[in-house]
Amino acid sequence: MAPIYSRIIATGSALPERAVSNADLEKIVDTSDEWIRSRTGIRQRHIAADGETTGDLAFLAAQRALETAGVKAAEIDLIVVGTTTPDIIFPSTACLVQQRLGANGCAAFDVNAACSGFMYALGIADKFIKSGQTKKALVIGAETLTRMIDWNERETCVLFGDGAGAVVLEASSEPGIYATCMHADGGYKELLWNPVGVSVGFKDEPNHGVRIKMAGREVFKVAVKTLDSLVGETLEAAGMHEADIDWLIPHQANLRIIEATAKRLEMPMDRVIVTVDQHANTSSGSVPLALDYAVRSGKVQRGQNLLLEAFGGGFTWASALLRY
Ligand code: UT7
Repeated sequence: MAPIYSRIIATGSALPERAVSNADLEKIVDTSDEWIRSRTGIRQRHIAADGETTGDLAFLAAQRALETAGVKAAEIDLIVVGTTTPDIIFPSTACLVQQRLGANGCAAFDVNAACSGFMYALGIADKFIKSGQTKKALVIGAETLTRMIDWNERETCVLFGDGAGAVVLEASSEPGIYATCMHADGGYKELLWNPVGVSVGFKDEPNHGVRIKMAGREVFKVAVKTLDSLVGETLEAAGMHEADIDWLIPHQANLRIIEATAKRLEMPMDRVIVTVDQHANTSSGSVPLALDYAVRSGKVQRGQNLLLEAFGGGFTWASALLRY
């Protein structure tokens, strides 16, 4: 029997309308455009409007991906949403999106792997398709991370943005996703976390103590080292070499981390998709937003090999090597 591959047949994305520049942030917190650009590569981020939710952005991104694919929502038999900022505790954002799309009946669930959420969701959907259980899947990464930010804390507030991206995956005899890798190490949980919730309780603080805490410098060091070995592992799993990769589409947290991974792959920066300057770190939204930009701008062409990767809270890290 010929192997079953999952192929990305279309992409879509959604960003909140409001873009906030570094200069705008200079007015509310002790920071500078120069510091933010030189340390992170970020120039602006999009911020969700009052009442605009992760589910709203996920729905729009999914609708755009389905439209581009020419696929009806009723044809989808799996929806997986990577998110760490669901609209409500339950039902999952995937269920909320499913109902709005009119894809009722198919399996739908969220994956919380922090910034690696979309990469985990893609890896899981790939396994569903390869097993023969799923023919068409909708995989979404969506976040409203700015809801978990203390705007007085300059160490974190300048880093994040909101947004969503989606792909339609289809079973095919043509490649396809060649390999996916997924990892986690909960031993690092306190370096990047949001330690409030239903079981441990909330705090008598603004926004009930819901805010991201990050030891930036330590996260940076582990991210660079871990992504270095992740890309090697992914190439090996796919039976490929650095030179086989046409585009690196990395998690968009920090331009310096992206440059380090590109160097490891011996890739010039003009073969790396960079959107961190426009979107900042949108966690699970970041890789599918970058992918949709790469496809719609005409950079990524059919038949090219793409290496997608992400690293985030947990720690979690995950990747996919695929032919687009
Ligand atoms: O997506 C999940 C994974 N997350 C990441 O990958 C993030 C990884 N970490 C990073 O991207 C970087 O570590 C940061 C961008 C967060 C920070 O850059 P850094 O070069 O590691 O800076 P630092 O934390 O070592 O801080 C350097 C200085 C400090 O001042 P002193 O102690 O040297 O006087 C900070 O207080 O920069 C100061 N600083 C700021 N200054 C102006 C920190 N934040 C700001 C700010 N504006 N927003």
